Amino acid sequence: MNVHQLETPALILDLDRYEENFRIMKNFTEANGIRLRPHYKSHKCTWIAHDQIAAGAKGITCATLGEAEDAARAGIEDILIANQAPQMSKVTRIAYLATCCRLTVCVDSTENIAALEAAAALESAAIHVLVEYDVGMRRCGVTDAEEFLLLAKLADAAPHLVFEGIQAYAGNLSHEADFEKRKKNSDWVESRLSALKKYVENAGLKIREVSGTSTGTVQFRPKNSVYTEIQPGSYIFMDKAYSLLNLPFRNALFLLTQVISVVGKERIVTCGGMKSISVDQANPSLAEYPGIPVEMSEEHCTLPFVPEGITVGDYLRLIPGHCCTTMNLHDHMYLVRKDKVMDRREIVSRGKSR
Ligand SMILES: Cc1ncc(COP(=O)(O)O)c(C=O)c1O
Repeated sequence: MNVHQLETPALILDLDRYEENFRIMKNFTEANGIRLRPHYKSHKCTWIAHDQIAAGAKGITCATLGEAEDAARAGIEDILIANQAPQMSKVTRIAYLATCCRLTVCVDSTENIAALEAAAALESAAIHVLVEYDVGMRRCGVTDAEEFLLLAKLADAAPHLVFEGIQAYAGNLSHEADFEKRKKNSDWVESRLSALKKYVENAGLKIREVSGTSTGTVQFRPKNSVYTEIQPGSYIFMDKAYSLLNLPFRNALFLLTQVISVVGKERIVTCGGMKSISVDQANPSLAEYPGIPVEMSEEHCTLPFVPEGITVGDYLRLIPGHCCTTMNLHDHMYLVRKDKVMDRREIVSRGKSR
């Protein structure tokens, strides 16, 4: 089947570029001696998680328990939930999940540690734990080294928890367009984490893992990085927001649209609006006309320009503003090589926000 036989709007993955993005990441991690634990929330597809592990990833990172359950059900054996999930019903689900795979979760409160220990004891499970440290994002996590140590000691002393180390995600730096600023602040994160590691280890606890890092800051992890594993997600697809950073990865994810109206010499309109492509982080743009800002509405994309020879029925490709939230809008994606549709795959964890 040719890609132009697909009913639009259709989410399509350019397999050549997807595979190239994998290679670039693999070369980086191998050259720098750092392990990859890519973020599942970017694709929400168990088959991509398997591709990533086959390409050398040690396991995956999830944002939600529902994603982690899907991944475990599909046979992924090493899963980190890089998030807080203190609700009691979720703590119970976490303890059960820890009997099905090697599960690591993040904590930032004494109450959550106590609840996880109690639930793990009931299941006779071992739950691996990272204490979350806020390195500037101002999301979850403790900011104080003493508070970190207190939680680390509690987790370490809990018979059914295994204290592993630090979760530190500087998402505030991911899309910083100024290269020097991004680098300087990433170096500062490294030194802050090295100081924390030293402080905790001087108190007698071993830090085995330091986990974090996004597509936008991978390049600043030095050979001797304090991070033992990195969690980039978007690198496999890329999007408009990341394309402003001049990273080596290329756009592989597109929304295939069709021109549905040509309005005089003023504008063209395609199908596919913000109900099928994300506008958070950046406005989408057309791959064929990247420099011309488009206007998005619910089911339409308007280009304020009429390209020479364009007619109703022509196909154009939109680059998502943000790939991760775009994946959450579709049930399926089409795998495409050149112009040939190779397969249709389910986006299994779409909507799994619990
Ligand atoms: C905890 C955590 N790690 C890693 C990532 C991956 O970031 P990116 O998709 O920008 O590579 C995210 C993204 O939100 C995140 O929240």
